[in-house]
Amino acid sequence: MSVNKEIKRITTHTVQKLKDAGEKISMLTAYDYSFAKLFDEAGMEIILVGDSASNVMAGNETTLPITLDQMIYHATSVVKGTHRALVIVDLPFGTYQGDSLQALKSTVRIMKETGAHGIKIEGGEEIIESVKRIISAGVPVMGHLGLTPQSIYKFGTYNVRAKEDAEAEKLIRDARLLEEAGCFAIVLEKIPAELGEKVSKMLHIPTIGIGAGPGCDGQVLVMHDLLGINHEFHPRFLRKYLNLYDEITNAVRQYISDVKSKDFPNAQEQY
Ligand code: KIV
Repeated sequence: MSVNKEIKRITTHTVQKLKDAGEKISMLTAYDYSFAKLFDEAGMEIILVGDSASNVMAGNETTLPITLDQMIYHATSVVKGTHRALVIVDLPFGTYQGDSLQALKSTVRIMKETGAHGIKIEGGEEIIESVKRIISAGVPVMGHLGLTPQSIYKFGTYNVRAKEDAEAEKLIRDARLLEEAGCFAIVLEKIPAELGEKVSKMLHIPTIGIGAGPGCDGQVLVMHDLLGINHEFHPRFLRKYLNLYDEITNAVRQYISDVKSKDFPNAQEQY
């Protein structure tokens, strides 16, 4: 029987049990109440309030501009839409890199003001003191290695990471450090599938992949990509489950046409 069916609110312990039972973990981003409610009721196990909100909600080119206040606004709405999913919130750029106290203060604001269940933080060795301090305050932490979009200007491109041995070895070291520090899971973004599988087998805690192959313990996608709202983004790892761009465009065009032709509202659609 699926472990998934036996639970009420998903916790970090449930997520570990899913890995231990060999059941894959589902994770999807959400940024508002209505979509969070839909995803929660559909059975999504983890909802990530990703700083990809900077791109898909605010229209920025990168994730760097989004602020802690803006992440808190999105996360508060998402939490209200969920009864079952574990809600994890990204620490945005500039709110944790200073030192571990800054990281803890940003985390405390998220936990107090949103009701979320944990945070995600990008990086390995360089942020390990912050990870330890947040976990020692009792807050679950999800790591994030591989392509870490907050470092886009260091990388220069959104290409696959850790193809070379040196970077793959650093990623493996960082994954071990994050596990030892107490992270409950790690996102692996855009790395070779072989490395994704190796890290997933090496770690006791679950890995959640995005463009990191089927060997990861779970998968995550950005909701706008999965639903096909964004028609300009076609990375190889993406499977689109809907073409909402066309569906919405057609619906809106039909509405405009109905208003212009005086077909809407009709006799039944008025008081
Ligand atoms: O911000 C985000 O949506 C993410 C996922 C892509 C993992 O970090």
